[in-house]
Amino acid sequence: MYAVREVTKDLYWVGANDHRTHLFENIHPIPKGVSYNAYLLLDKSTVLVDTVDWSVFRQLIENMEYLLGDRPLDYLLINHLEPDHAASIGGILQRWPNVKIISSEKGFMFMRQFGFEVDSHELIEVKEGDTYTFGDHTVTFVAAPMVHWPEVLVTFDLTNGVLFSADAFGTFIALDGKLFADEVNFDRDWLDEARRYLTNIVGKYGPHIQLLLKKASGILDKIKYICPLHGPVWRENLMYFVEKYDKWSRYEPEEQGVMIVYASMYGNTEAAAQALATRLCDAGVTNVVVYDVSNTHVSYLISDAFKYSHIVLASVTYNLGIYPVMHNFLMDMKALNLQNRTFAIVENGSWACKSGDLIQKFVDEEMKNMTVLNERLSLASSLQPDKETELNNLVAAIADSFK
Ligand code: FEO
Repeated sequence: MYAVREVTKDLYWVGANDHRTHLFENIHPIPKGVSYNAYLLLDKSTVLVDTVDWSVFRQLIENMEYLLGDRPLDYLLINHLEPDHAASIGGILQRWPNVKIISSEKGFMFMRQFGFEVDSHELIEVKEGDTYTFGDHTVTFVAAPMVHWPEVLVTFDLTNGVLFSADAFGTFIALDGKLFADEVNFDRDWLDEARRYLTNIVGKYGPHIQLLLKKASGILDKIKYICPLHGPVWRENLMYFVEKYDKWSRYEPEEQGVMIVYASMYGNTEAAAQALATRLCDAGVTNVVVYDVSNTHVSYLISDAFKYSHIVLASVTYNLGIYPVMHNFLMDMKALNLQNRTFAIVENGSWACKSGDLIQKFVDEEMKNMTVLNERLSLASSLQPDKETELNNLVAAIADSFK
């Protein structure tokens, strides 16, 4: 059965929701699902803007057949070739053998790499600044390399102010009937998943997002709708989300607060982390969150690492190294280019405490623009009363660094 929504005159959401996939990109949990957004423009010509993951291809076809009726599909406009959007290209080409395809040069390269038989179709290669008219609607193209693959275009409809933004401004969470961001409580229910999506999927490419935002700034007053490839469409309060993207892609913390992440084998490092959290709150630093690195998926840790200004890493020593799961978190923060944070270290080791020095070395040498507080809490097996001064000094140092 079709399930479509009208975005604005002539334009429809024809995507689908996915509650079956457990791991997005086979790595990131999506307990609330995800949507794959595709859009159908019914102008003098008909245009499908991007497709969907193969798993929901049938829904896309039912949506398109309902809206097209007896009309053919004239154009397939592909902004992004990652298979969560492009896997259904093959099915579209089979069903509409006369469809013309619009994409970037690299877009066509990826279509061939993925095995789509595009060369029997009319191919229209476009680049930044080109325009194309479908009847009443004229679109222009903006290159958005590495947001989040090199071939990406974003397409701006000059007639109605619709920006097809590809992965930019996307979020996890299935739409489930809603379409617009103003139909949900975005700040309460969606922001955390939007940040987790952006930081884990495109976090590494902050400078490229900045470049896209700079290009968009010249036409911000003309953008009436932002239509991303995942999550809700924006038609109100666009600057709320643009400003979040600006902050995340500049690697600036969203909030002054402390994220404590502990790696604990038998609960002693965990107890130290809780003692630290308690004393921080006593000292008036109450925006504190605590995570067990072993049972929190790293994508959630990355999201909060982008959110908070301060990160405390509390780790046991393991095989004379950093606890492996904590090491993985450090590697992920580095891979995603996180910068401009204040770190503090709590280390533990029963006979050879090494984790603190190794964490310090990693942060100093592998990451950019980080500050590590000099005060460190070093434990021999467990937190004992003789460490009260060290603990209090660490609390004071964190509190002072907030000023
Ligand atoms: Fe949602 Fe880069 O694909």
